[in-house]
Amino acid sequence: MRPYIVAIFNQKGGISKTTTSTNLAVCLAAFGKSVVVIDLDSQGDSTKSLGIDPKIKQGIFDLFIGNAPVDEVMQSTGFDGLRVLPSTYSLAGIEIKLSEMQNSQRTLSGILAHTDLDCDYVVIDCPPALGILPINALASAHAVIIPVTATPYANDGLLRTLPSIKYVQEGLNKNLLLQGVLFTINDRNKTTRKINELIRSRLGGTVYRSEIPRDNTVIEAATARLPVCVYAPKSAAAQAHLDFTEEFIDRHVAIAAKAGKEVLGRLSRDKTVERLFRWQAEMASAAAPPTDERVRQKTDQLDRMLYGNRSRMERWHLAVVHFFIENRLSLVAFLLVMLIGVIALVGAGFEGARRLVSAVGLG
Ligand SMILES: Nc1ncnc2c1ncn2[C@@H]1O[C@H](COP(=O)(O)OP(=O)(O)OP(=O)(O)O)[C@@H](O)[C@H]1O
Ligand SMILES: [Mg+2]
Repeated sequence: MRPYIVAIFNQKGGISKTTTSTNLAVCLAAFGKSVVVIDLDSQGDSTKSLGIDPKIKQGIFDLFIGNAPVDEVMQSTGFDGLRVLPSTYSLAGIEIKLSEMQNSQRTLSGILAHTDLDCDYVVIDCPPALGILPINALASAHAVIIPVTATPYANDGLLRTLPSIKYVQEGLNKNLLLQGVLFTINDRNKTTRKINELIRSRLGGTVYRSEIPRDNTVIEAATARLPVCVYAPKSAAAQAHLDFTEEFIDRHVAIAAKAGKEVLGRLSRDKTVERLFRWQAEMASAAAPPTDERVRQKTDQLDRMLYGNRSRMERWHLAVVHFFIENRLSLVAFLLVMLIGVIALVGAGFEGARRLVSAVGLG
């Protein structure tokens, strides 16, 4: 069976590549598909999130340098149908190792072409920036998904990522398809909506209908080392990841149909959610309970990633300024109310002074 290989890639850091990879993978498995996650990030976040300790002896690094075969590196997870080619901390040294090897940009596609992974889908979690590992992912994938978070820096990430994909499409992998752009960590404010609209108007149908909302449950889940779809299957983020997975499968079915191929059906949404709840119950004892302090640290870290090193006060001030720039009418109304307020105060002041003067008998 040749799996459909999808890379989750954006050169920008902290915009939910790992969260998208692990939740897409676990939802595909819950929909009854067999899935392998390849963790190409030396931080090992998706490895940890799927319950595997990145201090294990062998990982994707050993596979790349030919030190171990796929079946020795492959790890099973607590979720039926989902396995991982994990990252180990040694992966950080891969650039140097690969630079000594020939055809290093195609190392992963060589490995995947010669291995029967016996699964329906391979999901590759890429590290941020365009190094040898993401190039390997894009060279071996059928499709790429770009997660984007609608902050004022979102365009930067996209503008750097789209040309990299084009570079690979023109050389290393002519069949690579941009399957879609997914909005992640979506804040519900006007600025976010405007950036979303701008990107949607530029990229049209490439952008998925589903959007993943910002939801602190995702951070709690990450600190408990579980994908949010297992940690809290009914949370807003989990439901959005399920919607996205359905859309992802539908797009894959359409792509396969164009090539005259068929994709086997999936389980119903109810059955899928039932499986997620079963995994939640099975994992409950193993999951590290998230502490408030850890969740707060992670939330602050995320805010810093998304909005730079601005303090809460500065962000609040910026939000107010943005609000008035975007709502000129409200600004006029606000200034009018302020003016009336000032006139009333001055009037009251004069009246007060007049009464005081007459009370002390000077008037
Ligand atoms: N929908 C969401 N709501 C709230 N927090 C989220 C959401 N998605 C992801 N996060 C949090 O944002 C942070 C960054 O997410 P993640 O690690 O998935 O990004 P990444 O793009 O893989 O980062 P890196 O580039 O460092 O690999 C994590 O703390 C994660 O828990
Ligand atoms: Mg990551």
